[in-house]
Amino acid sequence: MCRKSQSEKHISDRPLTGNQPLYLAPLRGITDAIYRTTYAEHFDGIDLAVAPFITTHAGRRIKPSHVRDLHPEANPTMPVIPQILTKNADDCIILAEHLFDMGYATINLNCGCPFPQVAKKGRGSGLLCNPDGLDRLLERMLSQIPNKLSVKTRLGRHHPDEIHAVMTIFNRYPLASVIVHPRTGVQMYGGAPDLEAFSWCLQNCRHPVIYNGDITDRSGFRELERRFEGVAGWMIGRGMLANPFLPGLLKGAHAADNRTMTSRFREFHDALLERYCNRLSGPSHLLDRMKGLWKYFAQGFRNSETARKRIHKARSIDQYQSAVNAFLGNEPVWFW
Ligand SMILES: Cc1cc2nc3c(=O)[nH]c(=O)nc-3n(C[C@H](O)[C@H](O)[C@H](O)COP(=O)(O)O)c2cc1C
Repeated sequence: MCRKSQSEKHISDRPLTGNQPLYLAPLRGITDAIYRTTYAEHFDGIDLAVAPFITTHAGRRIKPSHVRDLHPEANPTMPVIPQILTKNADDCIILAEHLFDMGYATINLNCGCPFPQVAKKGRGSGLLCNPDGLDRLLERMLSQIPNKLSVKTRLGRHHPDEIHAVMTIFNRYPLASVIVHPRTGVQMYGGAPDLEAFSWCLQNCRHPVIYNGDITDRSGFRELERRFEGVAGWMIGRGMLANPFLPGLLKGAHAADNRTMTSRFREFHDALLERYCNRLSGPSHLLDRMKGLWKYFAQGFRNSETARKRIHKARSIDQYQSAVNAFLGNEPVWFW
Protein backbone atom coordinates (compact mmCIF):
# COMPACT_ATOMS: atom_id res chain seq x y z
CA MET A 1 0.00 0.00 0.00
CA CYS A 2 1.09 3.54 -0.61
CA ARG A 3 2.45 4.88 2.67
CA LYS A 4 1.05 8.17 3.86
CA SER A 5 2.25 10.31 6.71
CA GLN A 6 0.09 10.33 9.83
CA SER A 7 -0.92 13.96 9.30
CA GLU A 8 -1.85 13.31 5.69
CA LYS A 9 -3.81 10.25 6.73
CA HIS A 10 -5.62 12.31 9.35
CA ILE A 11 -6.60 14.90 6.73
CA SER A 12 -7.47 12.27 4.17
CA ASP A 13 -9.86 10.35 6.38
CA ARG A 14 -12.10 13.34 6.88
CA PRO A 15 -15.33 13.14 4.89
CA LEU A 16 -16.44 15.72 2.33
CA THR A 17 -16.93 18.75 4.54
CA GLY A 18 -19.61 20.61 2.67
CA ASN A 19 -21.79 17.61 1.76
CA GLN A 20 -21.66 18.64 -1.88
CA PRO A 21 -22.79 15.94 -4.29
CA LEU A 22 -20.20 13.83 -6.06
CA TYR A 23 -20.97 13.35 -9.75
CA LEU A 24 -19.74 10.54 -11.94
CA ALA A 25 -18.22 12.12 -15.07
CA PRO A 26 -19.48 11.14 -18.50
CA LEU A 27 -16.87 8.87 -20.13
CA ARG A 28 -18.06 7.81 -23.56
CA GLY A 29 -17.58 4.11 -24.21
CA ILE A 30 -17.14 3.43 -20.48
CA THR A 31 -19.72 4.88 -18.06
CA ASP A 32 -22.76 3.49 -19.85
CA ALA A 33 -25.88 2.20 -18.08
CA ILE A 34 -24.29 -1.21 -17.38
CA TYR A 35 -21.22 0.38 -15.83
CA ARG A 36 -23.25 2.90 -13.80
CA THR A 37 -25.70 0.31 -12.50
CA THR A 38 -23.04 -2.24 -11.64
CA TYR A 39 -20.87 0.39 -10.01
CA ALA A 40 -23.70 1.55 -7.75
CA GLU A 41 -24.43 -2.06 -6.74
CA HIS A 42 -20.85 -2.60 -5.58
CA PHE A 43 -19.53 0.75 -4.34
CA ASP A 44 -20.61 3.88 -2.48
CA GLY A 45 -19.95 7.56 -2.86
CA ILE A 46 -21.37 8.64 -6.21
CA ASP A 47 -24.59 10.63 -5.92
CA LEU A 48 -25.48 11.00 -9.58
CA ALA A 49 -24.01 10.67 -13.06
CA VAL A 50 -23.92 12.78 -16.17
CA ALA A 51 -24.28 10.23 -18.97
CA PRO A 52 -21.90 10.21 -21.96
CA PHE A 53 -23.12 12.47 -24.75
CA ILE A 54 -25.69 11.59 -27.33
CA THR A 55 -25.78 13.56 -30.55
CA THR A 56 -28.74 15.26 -32.20
CA HIS A 57 -30.05 14.26 -35.61
CA ALA A 58 -32.07 16.19 -38.14
CA GLY A 59 -35.78 15.41 -38.16
CA ARG A 60 -38.43 14.65 -35.56
CA ARG A 61 -37.98 10.91 -35.15
CA ILE A 62 -35.76 9.69 -32.30
CA LYS A 63 -34.74 6.07 -32.81
CA PRO A 64 -35.24 3.97 -29.65
CA SER A 65 -31.65 2.67 -29.96
CA HIS A 66 -30.36 6.25 -29.73
CA VAL A 67 -31.66 6.70 -26.19
CA ARG A 68 -31.59 3.04 -25.07
CA ASP A 69 -28.81 3.67 -22.55
CA LEU A 70 -30.99 6.28 -20.85
CA HIS A 71 -34.10 4.19 -20.36
CA PRO A 72 -35.13 4.43 -16.70
CA GLU A 73 -35.31 0.60 -16.47
CA ALA A 74 -31.67 0.41 -17.55
CA ASN A 75 -30.70 2.89 -14.81
CA PRO A 76 -32.33 1.63 -11.61
CA THR A 77 -29.53 2.40 -9.15
CA MET A 78 -27.96 5.74 -10.04
CA PRO A 79 -29.72 9.03 -10.90
CA VAL A 80 -28.69 10.23 -14.34
CA ILE A 81 -28.56 13.50 -16.27
CA PRO A 82 -28.45 12.93 -20.05
CA GLN A 83 -25.89 14.92 -22.00
CA ILE A 84 -26.38 16.31 -25.53
CA LEU A 85 -23.68 17.18 -28.05
CA THR A 86 -25.05 19.63 -30.59
CA LYS A 87 -24.85 23.00 -32.25
CA ASN A 88 -28.34 22.85 -33.71
CA ALA A 89 -31.04 24.29 -31.45
CA ASP A 90 -34.03 22.89 -33.36
CA ASP A 91 -32.73 19.31 -33.35
CA CYS A 92 -31.74 19.69 -29.72
CA ILE A 93 -35.22 20.86 -28.74
CA ILE A 94 -36.74 17.70 -30.26
CA LEU A 95 -34.30 15.47 -28.38
CA ALA A 96 -34.75 17.44 -25.14
CA GLU A 97 -38.54 17.04 -25.35
CA HIS A 98 -38.11 13.30 -25.93
CA LEU A 99 -35.84 13.05 -22.89
CA PHE A 100 -38.34 15.07 -20.84
CA ASP A 101 -41.06 12.56 -21.75
CA MET A 102 -38.71 9.77 -20.62
CA GLY A 103 -38.57 11.46 -17.20
CA TYR A 104 -35.48 13.66 -17.48
CA ALA A 105 -36.24 17.03 -15.89
CA THR A 106 -32.62 18.15 -16.32
CA ILE A 107 -30.30 17.72 -19.29
CA ASN A 108 -26.70 18.78 -19.86
CA LEU A 109 -25.12 20.51 -22.86
CA ASN A 110 -21.62 19.38 -23.86
CA CYS A 111 -19.42 22.46 -24.29
CA GLY A 112 -16.16 20.63 -23.80
CA CYS A 113 -15.59 17.71 -26.18
CA PRO A 114 -11.97 18.34 -27.29
CA PHE A 115 -11.76 16.13 -30.39
CA PRO A 116 -10.92 18.14 -33.52
CA GLN A 117 -13.49 16.31 -35.68
CA VAL A 118 -16.20 17.42 -33.22
CA ALA A 119 -14.86 20.93 -32.49
CA LYS A 120 -14.32 21.75 -36.18
CA LYS A 121 -18.05 21.27 -36.70
CA GLY A 122 -18.70 23.86 -33.99
CA ARG A 123 -19.82 21.35 -31.35
CA GLY A 124 -18.35 20.50 -27.94
CA SER A 125 -15.39 22.77 -27.21
CA GLY A 126 -15.96 24.24 -30.71
CA LEU A 127 -18.88 26.17 -29.16
CA LEU A 128 -16.46 28.06 -26.92
CA CYS A 129 -14.61 29.96 -29.66
CA ASN A 130 -17.88 31.15 -31.19
CA PRO A 131 -19.61 33.09 -28.38
CA ASP A 132 -22.29 34.50 -30.69
CA GLY A 133 -23.21 31.01 -31.90
CA LEU A 134 -23.28 29.76 -28.29
CA ASP A 135 -25.50 32.69 -27.31
CA ARG A 136 -27.96 31.96 -30.13
CA LEU A 137 -28.01 28.25 -29.28
CA LEU A 138 -28.75 28.87 -25.59
CA GLU A 139 -31.27 31.60 -26.32
CA ARG A 140 -33.29 29.39 -28.65
CA MET A 141 -32.95 26.21 -26.61
CA LEU A 142 -33.87 27.77 -23.31
CA SER A 143 -36.94 29.48 -24.73
CA GLN A 144 -38.26 26.12 -25.95
CA ILE A 145 -37.11 23.13 -23.91
CA PRO A 146 -39.22 21.86 -21.00
CA ASN A 147 -36.12 20.64 -19.10
CA LYS A 148 -33.69 22.50 -16.90
CA LEU A 149 -30.30 22.86 -18.54
CA SER A 150 -26.83 22.51 -17.08
CA VAL A 151 -23.63 22.86 -19.10
CA LYS A 152 -20.29 21.06 -18.92
CA THR A 153 -17.54 23.30 -20.20
CA ARG A 154 -13.82 23.64 -20.66
CA LEU A 155 -12.05 27.01 -20.39
CA GLY A 156 -12.05 27.56 -24.11
CA ARG A 157 -11.20 25.89 -27.40
CA HIS A 158 -7.74 27.44 -27.94
CA HIS A 159 -7.09 29.74 -24.99
CA PRO A 160 -8.21 29.83 -21.33
CA ASP A 161 -9.24 33.50 -21.69
CA GLU A 162 -12.11 32.43 -23.93
CA ILE A 163 -13.98 31.57 -20.74
CA HIS A 164 -14.44 35.30 -20.00
CA ALA A 165 -16.79 35.89 -22.94
CA VAL A 166 -18.35 32.45 -22.50
CA MET A 167 -19.15 33.08 -18.82
CA THR A 168 -20.86 36.36 -19.69
CA ILE A 169 -23.16 34.33 -21.93
CA PHE A 170 -23.73 31.56 -19.37
CA ASN A 171 -24.64 34.25 -16.82
CA ARG A 172 -27.38 35.57 -19.12
CA TYR A 173 -29.42 32.37 -18.93
CA PRO A 174 -31.14 30.43 -16.15
CA LEU A 175 -28.75 27.46 -16.04
CA ALA A 176 -29.09 24.74 -13.38
CA SER A 177 -25.31 24.50 -12.98
CA VAL A 178 -22.00 24.94 -14.78
CA ILE A 179 -19.55 22.05 -14.61
CA VAL A 180 -16.03 23.32 -15.32
CA HIS A 181 -13.13 21.13 -16.46
CA PRO A 182 -10.35 23.74 -16.30
CA ARG A 183 -8.41 22.85 -19.43
CA THR A 184 -8.79 24.12 -23.00
CA GLY A 185 -10.01 21.87 -25.80
CA VAL A 186 -6.66 21.83 -27.61
CA GLN A 187 -5.00 20.72 -24.37
CA MET A 188 -7.03 17.50 -24.47
CA TYR A 189 -5.85 15.94 -21.19
CA GLY A 190 -2.30 17.29 -21.18
CA GLY A 191 -0.84 19.53 -18.52
CA ALA A 192 -2.47 20.25 -15.18
CA PRO A 193 -5.95 21.66 -14.62
CA ASP A 194 -5.74 25.47 -14.47
CA LEU A 195 -6.84 26.11 -10.88
CA GLU A 196 -6.40 29.88 -11.15
CA ALA A 197 -8.82 29.94 -14.05
CA PHE A 198 -11.22 27.69 -12.14
CA SER A 199 -11.04 30.13 -9.23
CA TRP A 200 -12.01 32.92 -11.64
CA CYS A 201 -14.99 30.85 -12.82
CA LEU A 202 -16.11 30.26 -9.26
CA GLN A 203 -16.03 33.99 -8.53
CA ASN A 204 -17.64 35.11 -11.76
CA CYS A 205 -20.32 32.53 -12.46
CA ARG A 206 -23.76 33.31 -11.07
CA HIS A 207 -24.82 29.65 -11.26
CA PRO A 208 -23.81 26.74 -9.02
CA VAL A 209 -20.33 25.66 -10.16
CA ILE A 210 -19.11 22.06 -10.14
CA TYR A 211 -15.40 21.26 -10.27
CA ASN A 212 -14.12 18.50 -12.58
CA GLY A 213 -10.58 17.36 -13.32
CA ASP A 214 -7.83 15.05 -12.04
CA ILE A 215 -9.36 14.10 -8.70
CA THR A 216 -7.27 10.99 -8.13
CA ASP A 217 -6.62 10.72 -4.40
CA ARG A 218 -7.87 11.91 -1.06
CA SER A 219 -5.12 14.34 -0.13
CA GLY A 220 -5.26 16.10 -3.52
CA PHE A 221 -9.01 16.31 -3.15
CA ARG A 222 -8.73 17.84 0.33
CA GLU A 223 -6.52 20.56 -1.14
CA LEU A 224 -9.16 21.35 -3.75
CA GLU A 225 -11.85 21.34 -1.08
CA ARG A 226 -9.92 23.78 1.07
CA ARG A 227 -9.22 26.09 -1.85
CA PHE A 228 -12.68 26.06 -3.43
CA GLU A 229 -15.11 26.25 -0.56
CA GLY A 230 -17.86 27.71 -2.73
CA VAL A 231 -18.25 24.83 -5.16
CA ALA A 232 -21.68 23.25 -5.49
CA GLY A 233 -20.35 19.79 -6.29
CA TRP A 234 -17.47 17.68 -7.53
CA MET A 235 -17.21 15.48 -10.58
CA ILE A 236 -14.84 12.52 -10.86
CA GLY A 237 -14.00 10.39 -13.89
CA ARG A 238 -10.71 8.62 -14.50
CA GLY A 239 -9.71 8.61 -10.81
CA MET A 240 -12.85 6.65 -10.00
CA LEU A 241 -12.23 4.21 -12.86
CA ALA A 242 -8.74 3.46 -11.53
CA ASN A 243 -9.90 3.16 -7.94
CA PRO A 244 -13.63 2.51 -7.65
CA PHE A 245 -13.32 2.82 -3.86
CA LEU A 246 -12.22 6.46 -4.15
CA PRO A 247 -15.69 8.11 -4.17
CA GLY A 248 -16.58 6.28 -0.94
CA LEU A 249 -13.24 7.25 0.62
CA LEU A 250 -13.81 10.90 -0.31
CA LYS A 251 -17.14 10.67 1.50
CA GLY A 252 -15.39 9.44 4.64
CA ALA A 253 -15.56 5.64 4.34
CA HIS A 254 -12.62 3.80 5.88
CA ALA A 255 -10.24 1.99 3.57
CA ALA A 256 -10.61 -1.80 3.64
CA ASP A 257 -7.51 -4.00 3.75
CA ASN A 258 -5.78 -4.77 0.46
CA ARG A 259 -7.18 -8.30 0.13
CA THR A 260 -10.77 -7.21 0.78
CA MET A 261 -10.42 -4.43 -1.77
CA THR A 262 -9.22 -6.90 -4.39
CA SER A 263 -11.98 -9.37 -3.69
CA ARG A 264 -14.67 -6.65 -3.88
CA PHE A 265 -13.12 -5.38 -7.09
CA ARG A 266 -13.16 -8.95 -8.43
CA GLU A 267 -16.92 -9.22 -7.78
CA PHE A 268 -17.48 -5.91 -9.56
CA HIS A 269 -15.32 -6.98 -12.50
CA ASP A 270 -17.10 -10.34 -12.84
CA ALA A 271 -20.52 -8.69 -12.75
CA LEU A 272 -19.45 -6.26 -15.48
CA LEU A 273 -18.06 -9.09 -17.60
CA GLU A 274 -21.26 -11.10 -17.31
CA ARG A 275 -23.50 -8.15 -18.17
CA TYR A 276 -21.41 -7.06 -21.13
CA CYS A 277 -21.31 -10.68 -22.31
CA ASN A 278 -25.12 -10.66 -22.36
CA ARG A 279 -25.34 -7.23 -24.00
CA LEU A 280 -22.55 -7.07 -26.58
CA SER A 281 -22.68 -9.05 -29.79
CA GLY A 282 -19.76 -11.45 -29.99
CA PRO A 283 -16.52 -12.08 -28.12
CA SER A 284 -14.45 -9.44 -29.93
CA HIS A 285 -16.74 -6.63 -28.76
CA LEU A 286 -16.65 -8.03 -25.25
CA LEU A 287 -12.86 -8.29 -25.31
CA ASP A 288 -12.50 -4.74 -26.61
CA ARG A 289 -14.79 -3.40 -23.91
CA MET A 290 -12.99 -5.19 -21.08
CA LYS A 291 -9.53 -4.28 -22.40
CA GLY A 292 -10.65 -0.65 -22.59
CA LEU A 293 -11.61 -0.80 -18.93
CA TRP A 294 -8.26 -2.31 -17.94
CA LYS A 295 -6.47 0.71 -19.38
CA TYR A 296 -7.88 2.48 -16.31
CA PHE A 297 -8.25 -0.42 -13.83
CA ALA A 298 -4.52 -1.18 -14.07
CA GLN A 299 -3.69 2.32 -12.84
CA GLY A 300 -5.24 1.50 -9.48
CA PHE A 301 -2.58 -1.12 -8.72
CA ARG A 302 1.14 -1.00 -8.16
CA ASN A 303 3.36 -2.82 -10.67
CA SER A 304 0.47 -3.66 -12.97
CA GLU A 305 2.11 -2.88 -16.32
CA THR A 306 3.03 -6.49 -17.19
CA ALA A 307 -0.46 -7.67 -16.32
CA ARG A 308 -2.03 -4.87 -18.34
CA LYS A 309 0.03 -5.85 -21.39
CA ARG A 310 -0.93 -9.51 -20.96
CA ILE A 311 -4.60 -8.62 -20.68
CA HIS A 312 -4.26 -6.36 -23.72
CA LYS A 313 -2.72 -9.20 -25.77
CA ALA A 314 -5.53 -11.68 -24.98
CA ARG A 315 -7.15 -12.97 -28.16
CA SER A 316 -10.00 -14.87 -26.58
CA ILE A 317 -12.16 -14.56 -23.49
CA ASP A 318 -10.38 -17.61 -22.02
CA GLN A 319 -7.00 -15.91 -22.44
CA TYR A 320 -8.45 -12.73 -21.01
CA GLN A 321 -9.86 -14.55 -17.98
CA SER A 322 -6.63 -16.36 -17.27
CA ALA A 323 -4.62 -13.09 -17.48
CA VAL A 324 -7.06 -11.40 -15.08
CA ASN A 325 -7.11 -14.42 -12.75
CA ALA A 326 -3.32 -14.56 -12.66
CA PHE A 327 -3.12 -10.86 -11.77
CA LEU A 328 -5.92 -10.64 -9.22
CA GLY A 329 -5.03 -14.02 -7.68
CA ASN A 330 -1.52 -12.86 -6.93
CA GLU A 331 -2.38 -10.29 -4.27
CA PRO A 332 -1.84 -7.17 -6.35
CA VAL A 333 -1.23 -4.09 -4.23
CA TRP A 334 -3.60 -1.12 -4.50
CA PHE A 335 -2.06 2.29 -4.78
CA TRP A 336 -4.02 3.75 -1.87
C1 LIG B 1 -12.65 8.11 -22.57
C2 LIG B 1 -13.28 9.42 -22.21
C3 LIG B 1 -14.57 9.72 -22.64
C4 LIG B 1 -15.17 10.95 -22.31
N1 LIG B 1 -16.46 11.20 -22.71
C5 LIG B 1 -17.05 12.38 -22.35
C6 LIG B 1 -18.42 12.67 -22.71
O1 LIG B 1 -19.13 11.87 -23.33
N2 LIG B 1 -18.92 13.88 -22.34
C7 LIG B 1 -18.17 14.80 -21.62
O2 LIG B 1 -18.68 15.88 -21.30
N3 LIG B 1 -16.91 14.54 -21.26
C8 LIG B 1 -16.35 13.35 -21.59
N4 LIG B 1 -15.07 13.08 -21.17
C9 LIG B 1 -14.41 14.04 -20.26
C10 LIG B 1 -14.68 13.64 -18.79
O3 LIG B 1 -16.06 13.69 -18.49
C11 LIG B 1 -13.94 14.53 -17.80
O4 LIG B 1 -14.29 15.86 -18.04
C12 LIG B 1 -12.43 14.38 -17.92
O5 LIG B 1 -12.05 13.02 -17.98
C13 LIG B 1 -11.73 15.07 -16.74
O6 LIG B 1 -12.17 14.51 -15.51
P1 LIG B 1 -11.30 13.39 -14.74
O7 LIG B 1 -9.89 13.93 -14.61
O8 LIG B 1 -11.97 13.23 -13.38
O9 LIG B 1 -11.33 12.14 -15.56
C14 LIG B 1 -14.45 11.88 -21.52
C15 LIG B 1 -13.16 11.59 -21.11
C16 LIG B 1 -12.55 10.38 -21.43
C17 LIG B 1 -11.16 10.10 -20.94
